[in-house]
Amino acid sequence: MANVVEQLKHLFMPKSVAVIGASRHPGKIGHEILRNLIEYGFEGKIYPINPTAEEILGLKVYPSILDVPDEVDLAVVSIPAHKVPHVLEECGEKGVKTTAIISSGFGEIGNVELEREVLDIARKYGIRILGPNIIGVVYTPSKLNASFGPRDVVKGNIAFLSQSGALGIALMGWTITEEIGLSAVVSLGNKIDIDDADLLEFFYEDENTRVITIYMEGLRDGRKFMKVAAKVTKKKPVIVLKSGRSERGAKAAASHTGSLAGADRIFDAAFKQSGVLRAITFEDMFDWARALATQPPVKMNEAVIITNGGGAGVMATDAAEEYGVNLLEPSPKLIETFRKYMPEFGSPRNPVDLTGQADAESYYGAVKAAFESEEVGAIIVLYCRTAVLDPMDMAKAVMDAVKDAKEEGYVKPIVVNLLGGEDTIKASKELNRKGIPSYPIPERAVKTLGAMIKWSKWAGYLK
Ligand code: COA
Repeated sequence: MANVVEQLKHLFMPKSVAVIGASRHPGKIGHEILRNLIEYGFEGKIYPINPTAEEILGLKVYPSILDVPDEVDLAVVSIPAHKVPHVLEECGEKGVKTTAIISSGFGEIGNVELEREVLDIARKYGIRILGPNIIGVVYTPSKLNASFGPRDVVKGNIAFLSQSGALGIALMGWTITEEIGLSAVVSLGNKIDIDDADLLEFFYEDENTRVITIYMEGLRDGRKFMKVAAKVTKKKPVIVLKSGRSERGAKAAASHTGSLAGADRIFDAAFKQSGVLRAITFEDMFDWARALATQPPVKMNEAVIITNGGGAGVMATDAAEEYGVNLLEPSPKLIETFRKYMPEFGSPRNPVDLTGQADAESYYGAVKAAFESEEVGAIIVLYCRTAVLDPMDMAKAVMDAVKDAKEEGYVKPIVVNLLGGEDTIKASKELNRKGIPSYPIPERAVKTLGAMIKWSKWAGYLK
């Protein structure tokens, strides 16, 4: 059997894509997939297939895949389920390498025989199948949006795999609003062929992906997943949000994607044994992914909190204990250094309280000092909106400190929290754009650092 990574290159980096069931009618799935492919800027060849149309969205239409005068790497199939075996036979004859089957109406409604038939045809011709029952696939480095989800997926280095199609679409939209950069969105659906483990193998090798996130309802082959995950997580963080934790939730998952959800504690143990970070909410999953995709590993679990608000510092201190973040006891020398950036009534211990009158220079100085200190392993910067320091100026001070420290060779993980109104959200977005993970409450910043510590330990960066 061909190497799975090579096979999946046809899915993510196809030279040509056919849309079987490309519809003439805007609003129909087959039409919107074709539009997304064109408008997201796919640079390879696009072949719409429809026996009753001649031209759609300015492209010549072919009645059958067999009429396409070129090789086809990926066929996206969007026709009613009962018609899928026939077109798959044609794909086989044509030598199509991979298919993404959008159609619903297979195992998820008990139609396992049809599923079996489709799989048998695919095996006969060596075609790999993504799905069925999916929203499609996006791979931003290839400018490939072969989905009927939102179009403007933000380019980045987080891969997002989702067993649920609708949730996948919803979260694609959410990542756009939150400006979370993705390398890929992969809808897995019924996973009759390509599964989580196969995709992990691909993203393990993929240079455009630093973190892999998965929304999972169940696994067909738990052992295969664990084996691959244990390898992948040593190189790249894998964050899984596995739903169906409750008994009722597990039943709902079974009727949604036909998943045999299994006892949740078995999943929990399996994730721990294979170094997978388990997130309970989407917020956690993307909070952690954002930081793990941009920050270096934690090499010393000795964090320092720099704040202009005592209360926020206390909240972060409590959270640190809860999430496994060790707070540094600064040496007298470091205490003296921090003292330079605060008034007399500030506190140079950890949390380093620059006080409410902190200005941009105080933040710049304290953050830069934390980068330069050999005692500090990770930096948590907190800011409460004050009238004396505009949030954008605070953000700029942090960006400058990170940039200058980096130029001088000091690299360590940093997480930020800006607490306040509308203008703190804007400043936070600016930090995120610059690759400095920023969150709206202190606990989310600290919890994220906790996840980074967990992964850094697993991957051997941290003793
Ligand atoms: N080859 C190519 N095109 C074909 C074809 C074939 N063998 N048979 C029909 N077509 C054309 C149709 O003529 C139609 O084009 P038109 O609108 O220009 O006439 C188009 O392909 C689509 O076929 P149609 O029969 O109209 O199907 P549909 O668009 O109503 O539904 C699915 C097709 C796949 C969208 C639908 O069956 C389905 O499964 N929907 C759910 C999908 C989903 O939600 N997936 C994600 C789950 S999270």
